[in-house]
Amino acid sequence: MAYPQLAVLPSAAKRIRHHDCWVFRDELAAPDGSLPNGAVVELVDPHEAFLAYAFYSAHAPVAARVVSTDRSALVDRSLLARRLAAALSQREALRGTNAKRLVFSEADGLPGLIADQYGDVLVFQSRTAGLEPWKPVLIDLLRDALHPAGILERSDKEFRDAEGLPPVTQVHAGTVPERIRIEEEGLSFWVDPHHGQKTGFYLDQRDTRALIRSLIRPDERVADVFAYTGSFGIGAAARGARVVCVEQQEAYLALARENARANGVEERIDYVAGDAFYWLEAKAAGRERFDWVLLDPPSLAKSRAEAFKGRRALHHLLVQALGLLSAEGTLVLSVCTYHLLGVAEEVLRIAAEERGTRLCVRAVTMQAADHPWVLQMPMTRYLMSWTVQRDG
Ligand SMILES: C[S@@+](CC[C@H](N)C(=O)[O-])C[C@H]1O[C@@H](n2cnc3c(N)ncnc32)[C@H](O)[C@@H]1O
Repeated sequence: MAYPQLAVLPSAAKRIRHHDCWVFRDELAAPDGSLPNGAVVELVDPHEAFLAYAFYSAHAPVAARVVSTDRSALVDRSLLARRLAAALSQREALRGTNAKRLVFSEADGLPGLIADQYGDVLVFQSRTAGLEPWKPVLIDLLRDALHPAGILERSDKEFRDAEGLPPVTQVHAGTVPERIRIEEEGLSFWVDPHHGQKTGFYLDQRDTRALIRSLIRPDERVADVFAYTGSFGIGAAARGARVVCVEQQEAYLALARENARANGVEERIDYVAGDAFYWLEAKAAGRERFDWVLLDPPSLAKSRAEAFKGRRALHHLLVQALGLLSAEGTLVLSVCTYHLLGVAEEVLRIAAEERGTRLCVRAVTMQAADHPWVLQMPMTRYLMSWTVQRDG
């Protein structure tokens, strides 16, 4: 089968040969306005030598995403089936939970596909125009491989606008309940796949949840700030800590309460529905101190253009959060955007200097192993958490 050819500049050709998967729009040698959004194209270098087959996007800043660098591997059902089988097999050994990410986009060779498993339900997102025509095939393959009770698509607006696609929330197969109960290392959580953030649960924070549980001691005082449905705080309370969860959305706190009940720790958790920035400022100015502050803000910079603003917000949060810590207290800072990962430690150092305190790094955790990232594509690493303890 002959795909339309799309020539890229030498710099992009070099990157593709070194296993990067993205071609930005300004790296196209001769942009072709007639190519349909989502078409499969053949990327070639300026000498028309084959580079890869890719999904073309007519609107997004990333104009092409590599699907296959093997000239004989056309983009068809068989290729998608092989990629899906490899992704599922990689996650098979994951124990201790019935909730995991099955497919993570470029890292699994399926650009734009996110597929998460919550018990016997699958929730997926289609984030690229190129993936759209393949949705029925992928749904079919997922159904054949896993026989789920239901498959829900949660392709939210925030990922689809840039690709020129409308948002979609749709049950494609079976039934998907309003809430699903998942298990993780002996704890259980309710997930709302229809309305929750991401596909319903922060699966990527599994390692940080485990770390927090391994370090917290009975009766320690914990602030779970930006708590969502309370997964950090509930783990801490299960270890006997006393927790306050701060979250601005009432609906998420309602689920956090149910999660606390489901794990028998409701007596140990208080809830504050409100703005975490104000709450931190007010607490830092008061007398109450915490042994742990768990700080997991939303992405503070969604693009490079927002990095400076994000850095200022992070700095503000950290100065307040450090002000809340007891003399030997520990802060867990999560940063969930690539655009701030490189500066997070420096901002932490500056905030510590302002608070006149020394910090020791006890651990650094990252997106869990079912969220792999491509070494040649640093932007696919987006989540890190620093566990730092005051010792002065
Ligand atoms: C990254 S999520 C936290 C995830 C959580 N730690 C977990 O593992 O389930 C960030 C949360 O912060 C909340 N949020 C965003 N802005 C906020 C604000 N100004 N004050 C309080 N909560 C906020 C969002 O509603 C979201 O639930």
